[in-house]
Amino acid sequence: MRNNRLLICMPYKQFVRKAVDAGFRVYSIWDPSLESAEYLQEVARLSEEMVLCDFSDETQLRHVVATMAARHDVAHVIHLGREATQLPVCEQAHALGLALNSPRSLVLLNDKSAMRRLLRERGISPMTTREADSPAEAQRLLRGAADLPVVVKPTQLDGSRAVRLIEQPSDVDAWIDELAACRYAGPVLVEEYLRGPEFSVETLTVHGQHHLVGITAKRLGSAPHFVEMGHVHPAPLRDEDRSAIAELVVAYLDATGYRFGPAHTEVILTAAGPRIVESQARIGGDRIPLLIELAGGFDIESAVFRALAGEPAKPRAAKRLGCVSFFDFGPGRVQALEGAEEVRRLPFVHALVLKFDRGDVLGPVSSSATRHGYVVIDAAHEREAAERLAAVQGLLRVVTTLNDGPTVANPSTITLKD
Ligand SMILES: Nc1ncnc2c1ncn2[C@@H]1O[C@H](COP(=O)(O)OP(=O)(O)OP(=O)(O)O)[C@@H](O)[C@H]1O
Ligand SMILES: [Mg+2]
Repeated sequence: MRNNRLLICMPYKQFVRKAVDAGFRVYSIWDPSLESAEYLQEVARLSEEMVLCDFSDETQLRHVVATMAARHDVAHVIHLGREATQLPVCEQAHALGLALNSPRSLVLLNDKSAMRRLLRERGISPMTTREADSPAEAQRLLRGAADLPVVVKPTQLDGSRAVRLIEQPSDVDAWIDELAACRYAGPVLVEEYLRGPEFSVETLTVHGQHHLVGITAKRLGSAPHFVEMGHVHPAPLRDEDRSAIAELVVAYLDATGYRFGPAHTEVILTAAGPRIVESQARIGGDRIPLLIELAGGFDIESAVFRALAGEPAKPRAAKRLGCVSFFDFGPGRVQALEGAEEVRRLPFVHALVLKFDRGDVLGPVSSSATRHGYVVIDAAHEREAAERLAAVQGLLRVVTTLNDGPTVANPSTITLKD
């Protein structure tokens, strides 16, 4: 590497800390509308310099990348944040000779339609998918009930927004309303409904070599939405299934031409073998890095920067389980909230987040962003994990009232085998 200066777009504060620990000097770019002023002050304190700009203005973002990169003579420009701005930043970095990946490989990872086309061409992860340019065209495709059920998916949204199972033609209307609420009029994928347990695969690619960090089992909320309600790392899997999933993900990452960085790839294990749901050129969210650390002591965030500094990537095998379980207390006004402090004091609880206070109104859980909170625990094995989550459930008491009277909700907790 030419020098130790990195320009990072949208670095979370721990990324800056860990990059500095790995020997880098970090220059940061953030959009002030995406995090609190307090959070961004901390990022600025850890960085050599931070510049704020409006990420929805692509021209401005590219300009900031070009100016910062030149002013500080950085060795690389990287982006480990949300997918929406990864491509313009990568294109600008590529034009300056400072990118670690080709823009094409990022498109093949982050854009769900481009991914499906690549997989189809290469015969990887075979399944039926169709593309529609707009929700209206998708609606026309769905008129005949012949291939139902299908999963419909706006290609340019994330967080499971408006991803929906369509079982009968009448389900389409509710989905169209959901898209309208997201003000979405872009392309839509209509996919075969893959049946089976779902997993996410964390990898770290260095010099085009894809290192498997681990496979996480995912628990979903109830249909027709596909909201992620829990994760267990490492996933309890038979050896042959684990190998089949790992091979599939490596074949796909190879096909994209991805050269450096983390990827988070979602897979469903069907009766015919594993199939790819989607992938992203970033570390998994939903506290998955913490689960990996609890399970085996491997810090994937640090590993990205240590690999960039030239250290060999050596993921560590998991010895325990790390679990996160998201809460759905049901919609309504929160009348009582008890037990949080007791839960936080449990030695196996590593995080408890409740996204509300007494008096707030909880909406229905229909996407990642609308979940009501979560708890993270560690455990020696699956039975202990179930016991520990049940202990949390027993302590936490939330009372919500709808118009028709009070309801007492215990958090829904993860079941490891469902
Ligand atoms: N073809 C499919 N068959 C079965 N389930 C699917 C299919 N496609 C998507 N899903 C379900 O919907 C969820 C969300 O889909 P996907 O990950 O593609 O969208 P997303 O909006 O990017 O989600 P997120 O950002 O929450 O990961 C998946 O995790 C999976 O549970
Ligand atoms: Mg997804």
